[in-house]
Amino acid sequence: MLELRHVSKSYREAHTRRAVLTDVDLSVGDGEFVAVTGRSGTGKSTLLNLISGIDVPDSGTIWLDGVDLTALGERERTLKRRHAVGFVFQFFNLIPTLSVAENLLLPLELIGCPADAARARVTELLERVELASRAESFPDRLSGGEQQRVAVARALVHEPRLVLADEPTGNLDAETGRIVLGLLSDMIRDAAKTLIVVTHSEEAAARADRVLRLEGGAVREAPPASGSIGRAPR
Ligand SMILES: Nc1ncnc2c1ncn2[C@@H]1O[C@H](COP(=O)(O)OP(=O)(O)OP(=O)(O)O)[C@@H](O)[C@H]1O
Ligand SMILES: [Mg+2]
Repeated sequence: MLELRHVSKSYREAHTRRAVLTDVDLSVGDGEFVAVTGRSGTGKSTLLNLISGIDVPDSGTIWLDGVDLTALGERERTLKRRHAVGFVFQFFNLIPTLSVAENLLLPLELIGCPADAARARVTELLERVELASRAESFPDRLSGGEQQRVAVARALVHEPRLVLADEPTGNLDAETGRIVLGLLSDMIRDAAKTLIVVTHSEEAAARADRVLRLEGGAVREAPPASGSIGRAPR
């Protein structure tokens, strides 16, 4: 599903070059739920940007869903991302000038989904996140938890193989975060998709199949969180 080999990434600032990721190897299987932890500034968001093809590594290869992203041009990477990847961000990132339903329609329009099928799919997803009655609302009228439920629906609406979430509960209270994370992991599991979540939450890590820790530019397999509940077998 996803394979990184010898991936390195640094940023140049003024006259210095700062290494963020150094020779990272990583394999994620189909249907896996992987949690990524690590202190601030260790490169977690950078890693997600490379996996999604938003950014490119200095060296190394990244295979996503059978395609070597590092061999593609920017436009091809964008097309690949639109089909294969869904995102959930810490600050929801819904488009403020679009209604809830329009926010969900957008990823489908971008991949050329027929309008009738798109509308049916949006209705289905909004029902799943219990926001069907808010389809015509604008994002700023929703609570943080409601906005993040819309974002979860948006991340899955185009049936991507991979969903990436960058601290999806970081801006929610504990109880709301638990609900959003439960919804995200349940929906991903039901759809047999792969989920990579950057999180500081022990609880979130406990739900994952594997926990990876970023430190000093490297990715290490962390021991399973205590009290891990694992995932229901499929
Ligand atoms: N565009 C950029 N230009 C220069 N430096 C950058 C850029 N993007 C990220 N960095 C640096 O790379 C390092 C890793 O950043 P990144 O955002 O990946 O960390 P993170 O692990 O996601 O941190 P946090 O937990 O705070 O979100 C940081 O030191 C950051 O300052
Ligand atoms: Mg980050």
